[in-house]
Amino acid sequence: MSTFKYAAFPLLASAFFLGSCGDNQTSQPETETPEVETVAETPMVETTDKFTYANYKDVRLTHIDLNLDVNFEDKVLDGVAILDFERIDPETDVLVLDTKDLTINSISLVNGETTMPVEDYTLGEADPVLGQELRIPLSEDADQVLIDYTTSPTAEGLQWLSPEQTAGKEDPYLFSQAQAINARTMAPLQDTPAVRLTYSATLRVPDGLRPLMSASQGEENENGEYQFEMPQPIPSYLIAIAVGDIEFKAINDHIGVYAEEYILDAAAEEFSETPLMEEANEELYGPYRWGRYDLIVLPPSFPYGGMENPRLSFMTPTLIAGDKSLTNVVAHELAHSWSGNLVTNATWRDAWLNEGFTSYVENRVMEKLYGERRAVMEQALALEDLKRDIAGAARPELTQLKLPADITHPDDAFSQVAYVKGQYFLIFLEERFGRDAFDPFLKSWFNDHAFESVTTETFLDYLDDNLRADYPDAVTDAEIEAWVYEPGLPETAKNPQSDAFETVQMHSDAWVAGDLSTFELEEIAAEWSTHEWLHFLNGLPDDLASEQYEDLDKAFSLTGTQNAETAFAWYMLAIKTDYEAAYADLEGFLMSVGRGKFIYRLYDALKENGKAEWAERIYAEARPGYHPIAQRRIDDILNE
Ligand code: BES
Ligand code: ZN
Repeated sequence: MSTFKYAAFPLLASAFFLGSCGDNQTSQPETETPEVETVAETPMVETTDKFTYANYKDVRLTHIDLNLDVNFEDKVLDGVAILDFERIDPETDVLVLDTKDLTINSISLVNGETTMPVEDYTLGEADPVLGQELRIPLSEDADQVLIDYTTSPTAEGLQWLSPEQTAGKEDPYLFSQAQAINARTMAPLQDTPAVRLTYSATLRVPDGLRPLMSASQGEENENGEYQFEMPQPIPSYLIAIAVGDIEFKAINDHIGVYAEEYILDAAAEEFSETPLMEEANEELYGPYRWGRYDLIVLPPSFPYGGMENPRLSFMTPTLIAGDKSLTNVVAHELAHSWSGNLVTNATWRDAWLNEGFTSYVENRVMEKLYGERRAVMEQALALEDLKRDIAGAARPELTQLKLPADITHPDDAFSQVAYVKGQYFLIFLEERFGRDAFDPFLKSWFNDHAFESVTTETFLDYLDDNLRADYPDAVTDAEIEAWVYEPGLPETAKNPQSDAFETVQMHSDAWVAGDLSTFELEEIAAEWSTHEWLHFLNGLPDDLASEQYEDLDKAFSLTGTQNAETAFAWYMLAIKTDYEAAYADLEGFLMSVGRGKFIYRLYDALKENGKAEWAERIYAEARPGYHPIAQRRIDDILNE
């Protein structure tokens, strides 16, 4: 076992002694010393999730049963949650839950057949990030609590769309987004990834609408209700619901696509290689353990590219480019079925364990299916994003893989650092140990920690015991320390060599210098993939003569392009270069696309380039259509 990390994080060594804290720490103290005494007084900052009120180290939820009306008129979920819990500390006399914007109607404790109303529960003061704690005094023998509650129409985890906001225009639509800490706006629970629970649900929805959840898909029963079951323990952030005029198309016997009709066929075609991705994943990391794998294409206000809700990934329609050029996002969400959903970060400070591992697996799968050329281009594009995030970080500590204890919102944990620096750390390990050793190692990591929530330190110990022990000279403590606990990109990071991008660069340089005509470029670029276009556009200088942007636009019809990634790259350039011919289309894009990755940076760039007024005018009109998460983020960007 190496010891460097204990030196860097003195509190960590102490945390290892707290064997009963229930964070699945596999590490054992090396010697039994009387230190236990002093340790008991040490706050467990290293393994405690600070974004929950829950006393999850004393008592844990094991199951939640939801019985809800999906009420589109009032835009609320309304009904009863029955929570099963287990005492870890037998003395525990209170259950503390997370809630945010919930109305609690009544609470009862249940012990077998006996139900006892609870009058003296308390709802704490509302914190803008965390919401309100719900303290429920426990009687000695109760092991279930029944909570009658109603959500708020402005719950951050739920977007209620009017019929006009859907493609079909006839029916309303609802979808949830619980990650990172919005499950508490959907139900009272222990909203921390450190706790895993199974769930079941009974939903009542208006006639003609289909409800879906991140669970076995419910059949309608004789009362017109739909029943769902998630028998595998998952963290609360993976509870998900979508309701709308949704249709289904199978891709194979256990993979398919849900979507509004207008995009169903196109989506099934775009995602037709998902079965191959699943196969590639299984070859590398073992069986897919969740039964079915379906995708749902949500309305365009969905604020993410994808969300790995188990059995049912939620996807943005901006992936439907017509040429499968953006399907790495499918590979990504599917990969979470191993990294994240099976083995989960115990706190958001360890988010790279979810996202970095997933980005690594995603890229391995892309390489297996489409070859090294595409995989390396995707690595190189990701690295450009990482460098931008590192340069723009509010403070250096936010560029460590293990994030500092004082992050103020879990959103801070999801920069490109978690994704790309995390991915590059694993690429570094892969290169040092070789795939023959590293691939089986990663496979056993997923197996040995399946259905657990783990911290960065659990992984580093596992690495020590299962790989470094066999190859002690492959990496040094200092190298690992730099990757995990120090800011920036370590010098041991891979430099992805993309011949394709080098060629693009050469032509780009020549065109910029006037040595290559736009006409000649047209012939060359006719062969370019989306990736090559992105490299070209991202690398263009912003101080060319305005005719040059105009020429490009004329030659390639960049304004109004149907590929959302290319459009985004072009609009960013248009903003920086005052290329106003693109503004009408940019406005259309901002009015119709709610994917955060695009719109946060577009609004930010508009503001930074002296177009705040224009941005605010568009935003005033677009805001009601954006998801509550996007509204919060853009409010911050424009008001900063
Ligand atoms: N789990 C994330 C989405 C997420 C992150 C939701 C943080 C809430 C808080 C998902 O797996 C993801 O990473 N999506 C990416 C796609 C990817 C290819 C990097 C996205 O949305 O762009
Ligand atoms: Zn992810």
